[in-house]
Amino acid sequence: MNYDPSINIVDLILRKRDSGTLTRNEIASFVYGYTIGDIPDYQAAAFLMAAFLQGMNEEEMLSLTDAMLNSGRVLDLSDIPGRKVDKHSTGGVGDKVSIPLAPIVAACGVPVPMISGRGLGHTGGTLDKLESIPGFSTALSIEQYRRQLADIGLVMIGQTDDIAPADRKLYALRDVTATVEFVPFIAASILSKKLAEGIDALVLDVKYGSGAFMQEESRARFLAETLVRVSEHFGKPTVALLTDMDQPLGQAVGNWPEIVESIELLKGKGPIDLKEVTMALAAEMIVAGERAGTIEEAFEAAQAVIDSGMALDRFKQMVAAQGGDVALIDEPGRRTETALTAEIRVPSGVPGVIERIDALEVGRAMITLGAGRMQKEDDVDPLAGCFLHKRQGDEVREGDVLATVYASSDDRLSAAVDALTEAWAFTETVKAPSPRIRDRYVDRSWSG
Ligand code: URA
Repeated sequence: MNYDPSINIVDLILRKRDSGTLTRNEIASFVYGYTIGDIPDYQAAAFLMAAFLQGMNEEEMLSLTDAMLNSGRVLDLSDIPGRKVDKHSTGGVGDKVSIPLAPIVAACGVPVPMISGRGLGHTGGTLDKLESIPGFSTALSIEQYRRQLADIGLVMIGQTDDIAPADRKLYALRDVTATVEFVPFIAASILSKKLAEGIDALVLDVKYGSGAFMQEESRARFLAETLVRVSEHFGKPTVALLTDMDQPLGQAVGNWPEIVESIELLKGKGPIDLKEVTMALAAEMIVAGERAGTIEEAFEAAQAVIDSGMALDRFKQMVAAQGGDVALIDEPGRRTETALTAEIRVPSGVPGVIERIDALEVGRAMITLGAGRMQKEDDVDPLAGCFLHKRQGDEVREGDVLATVYASSDDRLSAAVDALTEAWAFTETVKAPSPRIRDRYVDRSWSG
């Protein structure tokens, strides 16, 4: 760690403000100084805004990533056999991909150590989804994480305090200083956490569209390219898929509803778009884990573990190992028996084809319902959510059920139904939905 406590933070802010560049040591000193509390929030906020407005060059971005990565513990999983591969998604509405993906990949022989986050705003978080399984714990110690990975090749936990602590502090500050949407900060934030997990390779799902964190396609492309380049710089083979998040992914949105849909996928069923994204990411991870030589072979391996039931078994092993109610995985319908429900139907006077279902509107309705959170401290309702019976391109008639909404309170249910009704747009002409996967980035180049 190159922390030089004698560096004058005012000089660094001044130089950045006047579009100068900072050295590796200076950036490290800022990151460590802030993490340990030597640099106060007001100076760190000024530094972040100066960098946001004036930009950071490649060297500065790499130095920032390095300092954030080394601000805490960097795990070494080299004593566990196999190439460890993880996936990170920039998140979206209905993005439950990690839940079926990790057991599929693990069942193909690639160890998956996954450290995930919670949902904030309109995008959901893997941890909230997993914790909707009664008893399931995502708060394992690093020792438990390591042991479970060695035993069953699969573990899914939340961020621990000692991994990339600089990111936790800086992210909270970025959140309240309008400095989140800056690619060098985003890349350093995502990769400092992922590179500290002890993985050998990384697969990324960078989403764009109304329900994504990056709404504009060009910005998502720039992020994908940057993430791959920075991750490769740190010696991790990395592939990013660029995927469309204008419509909710799959038919279920909400924590427990998304677990139910993930189980369906592991049984070889489930919606086609969810399968498209899950299988494409699985194939990338299986190749990165050296369990298949080509993407085509990897697809076949992934399909084989679904067909044989091995992927679902692996999921159940993980649920059991992390304290969850495994019996419920065989009968998921039991959990929603007591939920309040409402239906959204096709109104009169609209044309007969669904033009789109706005993912952002659906995500916002989920917050109203209690399935998502606006503030980090908010609780989420595990059962709240919706199931979209009709989707983009479907032909409909007046009165057809578009969605079923689940909630635990009447007030929330009626407010969410009103909000969700706004998400549908109708048209006259039938148009097949476009594929979700739009591009593949590998080390600066892309092929589509
Ligand atoms: N996700 C992260 O982990 N960090 C960011 O900065 C943005 C999204």
